[in-house]
Amino acid sequence: SETLDVDLSTLRETESKTVIWTGKPVFIVKRSPADLATLQLSSHIAKLRDPDSLKNQQPSYARNWHRSLRPEIGVMVGICTHLGCIPSFQPSTPTGQDKMENAQYHCACHGSFYDSAGRVFKDVPAPLNLPIPPHHFLKPHLLRLG
Ligand code: FES
Repeated sequence: SETLDVDLSTLRETESKTVIWTGKPVFIVKRSPADLATLQLSSHIAKLRDPDSLKNQQPSYARNWHRSLRPEIGVMVGICTHLGCIPSFQPSTPTGQDKMENAQYHCACHGSFYDSAGRVFKDVPAPLNLPIPPHHFLKPHLLRLG
């Protein structure tokens, strides 16, 4: 299948970039230590629909708490699992700022939210976590999709 190599050397902590792979947007996020702590926080996990990735939305190697190969790098298909809009990235907000605290991807079409691992929140229209595409690292800063 089609592959795409992405140089991550300029991607900074808390940033997300979008590349196009097989015609689809793919989000690549570099998580900060604070973002990684949030992903494991029980109060955060309690707000998620499928925190343990039980639904088949990722390769087996991404069925973990960060849904990726390396905790600091998130890779996900940027297509909302509700009706297919493209969510936008919003950097993490300070604790207690709004009800979707720790949401990182927001789909404005009908109000769905995902965290920095692409895990969907409860009580939004989207039914599933964002899909994780097949990926591996050729070098520490060189990611291959596909
Ligand atoms: Fe994203 Fe409906 S398409 S919330």
